[in-house]
Amino acid sequence: MTGITVRVPAKLNLQLAVGPPRADGYHDLVTVFHAVSLFDQVTVEPAQRDGVTVTGEGADRVPADQDNLALRAVIALRAAVRNRRTGPGRVHVTIAKRIPVAAGLAGGSADAAAALVACNELWAAGLGQQRLGEIGATVGSDVAFALLGGTAVGRGRGEQLTPALAPATQYHWVLAFADGQLSTPAVYAALDRLRASRAAESAGSARPGVPADAGPGLDAALMAALRSGDAARVGQRLSNDLQPAAVSLFPALRKTLTAGLELGALGALVAGSGPTCVFLAANRERALELAVSLSGAGVCRSVARVSGPVPGAAVVSAG
Ligand code: C5P
Repeated sequence: MTGITVRVPAKLNLQLAVGPPRADGYHDLVTVFHAVSLFDQVTVEPAQRDGVTVTGEGADRVPADQDNLALRAVIALRAAVRNRRTGPGRVHVTIAKRIPVAAGLAGGSADAAAALVACNELWAAGLGQQRLGEIGATVGSDVAFALLGGTAVGRGRGEQLTPALAPATQYHWVLAFADGQLSTPAVYAALDRLRASRAAESAGSARPGVPADAGPGLDAALMAALRSGDAARVGQRLSNDLQPAAVSLFPALRKTLTAGLELGALGALVAGSGPTCVFLAANRERALELAVSLSGAGVCRSVARVSGPVPGAAVVSAG
């Protein structure tokens, strides 16, 4: 066996509802994940020692040491299968990136998921997707979804997944990549600050009947829209609690979002913790028009057209 190559998609959050911070620093979420056709490719090969090489989009900003999420996933999987007969050897991981780094598209978690699938195969470890997801969740909140793909509801930190029963509709999206990055912990911290100052302002005027500890809830109207396959309805229900926080840290995003809507997008939102902006188009042709107009408007670094849902991490070649 020379190596295993796995292709893994980026994710969007069609809804991202965020609860208050937990004791462990994470936030409870309810999110609707949606995997789209923007893929990284990860190859693992037997090697003398563990290592990682990163090429492609934003490669110089991805750690190539033990902080690398794909390498951390390899180490976590090795620990989980250590006692089996087919001992897991050392590997070199090569990541060919197309998913921009720190862009709100879970590229790091995607690479970790791909490394898990590849090593599971290379080592003939035979772990199921559920177990790989549990191991992946120790590395990043979005790893389990990158294994599953499709459209799914995520709870907890995002690692507890239920596939969403959406029809076979393909949705056409335009992604506007920003000239800059946002740190996920910084965006969550900004949301906590925004909420704290809002709570301080409205102290004493709490609405009766609304429990202060009501957790985030799934948007039933979004789920109904997804079941209907009607892109216009889906576009109206896109929502992201992190968006005001991302925009407060990266004010130029407001202009990008407005431009996309003015150019005819059915809906617009910030991807995860940003700064990528996401626009839904009625069909493939409209997505092409929107992508061209957005590039011309000078409100982002570059654009990409993608569609979803697509499957999660999968082996594309083994040799
Ligand atoms: O799990 P992951 O490494 O992707 O999370 C990055 C950071 O994002 C966490 O350290 C935390 O600050 C924040 N986060 C959070 N609640 C979540 C997921 C992420 O606060 N559900």
